[in-house]
Amino acid sequence: DIGNALASVASPGVSRAALERLDTQVADAHERIERGMDDHEHGYEALNLPQRTDPDEIRTAVEPVADADTLITVGIGGSALGAATITNALADQSDTEAVYLDNVDPEWVSSQLDRLDLENTAINVVSRSGTTAETLANFLVVRDEFESAGVDWTERTIVTTGDAGPLRDLSDRHDLPSLKVPDGVPGRFSALSAVGMVAAEVCGHDLEALLEGAAAEAETLSGSLFECPAYAYGATTYALDQRGAGINAMVPYAESLETAAEWFAQLWAESLGKDDLGQTPVRALGVTDQHSQLQLYRAGPRDKLVTFVSPGETADRAIPETDVEDLAYLGDSTLGELLEAEFDATEASLAAAGRPNVRLELERVDEYELGGLLYGLEAACVLAGELYAVNTFEQPAVEWAKKATRGLLGGGEFEEAEAVAEKTSLR
Ligand code: PA5
Repeated sequence: DIGNALASVASPGVSRAALERLDTQVADAHERIERGMDDHEHGYEALNLPQRTDPDEIRTAVEPVADADTLITVGIGGSALGAATITNALADQSDTEAVYLDNVDPEWVSSQLDRLDLENTAINVVSRSGTTAETLANFLVVRDEFESAGVDWTERTIVTTGDAGPLRDLSDRHDLPSLKVPDGVPGRFSALSAVGMVAAEVCGHDLEALLEGAAAEAETLSGSLFECPAYAYGATTYALDQRGAGINAMVPYAESLETAAEWFAQLWAESLGKDDLGQTPVRALGVTDQHSQLQLYRAGPRDKLVTFVSPGETADRAIPETDVEDLAYLGDSTLGELLEAEFDATEASLAAAGRPNVRLELERVDEYELGGLLYGLEAACVLAGELYAVNTFEQPAVEWAKKATRGLLGGGEFEEAEAVAEKTSLR
């Protein structure tokens, strides 16, 4: 719902006439996107995943670890956040705990490993390139922990990586069950491939429903933003950014969707942050951040768009009655009603202050809706990338830092590492 982002109610806002003019560019962009999908071009290929991903292949590969009580996914960025979005959103429907080791903060890594019963834990190591230092280092640490505990890690590990590289070599050497990151699919667009779905399968989620939800969203892609919710979002965010809303705060109203905001932040930042362009994504959580960030969103600089995510139907819990007169109104309500009232009040309060906001609505938090959300936001991002005319699917700044890190640790000769050494010597 982009009604609260229109110029008639918000500043900055975009007028209906401006959106109609922008629609010509959306039609051209859509042609370009369709061509890219048909030709299986790098990046655009991600939008073919609902048809391309084979759940049976994933199920067969994870068979040896399907009984795990805990699954440690070792991966970072696009190799972790898609899986984490799905399993964290659906955590209350799974008996398997999903743990994500992305950071290499030593205290945190040790504390995670110390608390796990490794006999009943499986490892899901994911790296498209197979060279990312954080992932490979954490994997070596986890492997060592299994060995020290006398647990055969080769029986408990599944690998998802590209055709070649150190992780592929390691996987071949130990004959580990493995899956391939599909060609043409950048990390942050890979949630609907084995990259995101191995963890979902081990946690017992419905892979077909995830893909069906994504496929239904794919069906809506068309040459007009007025007919396609994903393009409406991508075009509106672009138009608002052009008019000064350089910050996009995503605010899901469900704890289960907090990781979705984290995933979105990566998608938006790493895909669109190029050539001095791109909106800055911010993560917030309803209702919690009503008591911290909302003041700024309603009364601070007019440089923000707020993207609300409504979770739809959720389980509810009654608020117990009390004989304190001033609290009686709470006893007549449920926590769900309170949350909904807070959502409505916050949305209305921003609209009343003329602050642009958009609402993404799920029917409920399940596999089908999550598949649609992930696919829709990816399509929105690809469309926005076309409008900005940036290369949505590359990430040179990320690669720069990866090379510098390797070089600094003696993992090869990289000019990026020399640049860092030069800078640090000036301190
Ligand atoms: O989206 C991206 O390309 C990045 O966030 C990568 O996913 C991240 O850097 C991890 O890379 P890799 O999967 O090669 O280990």
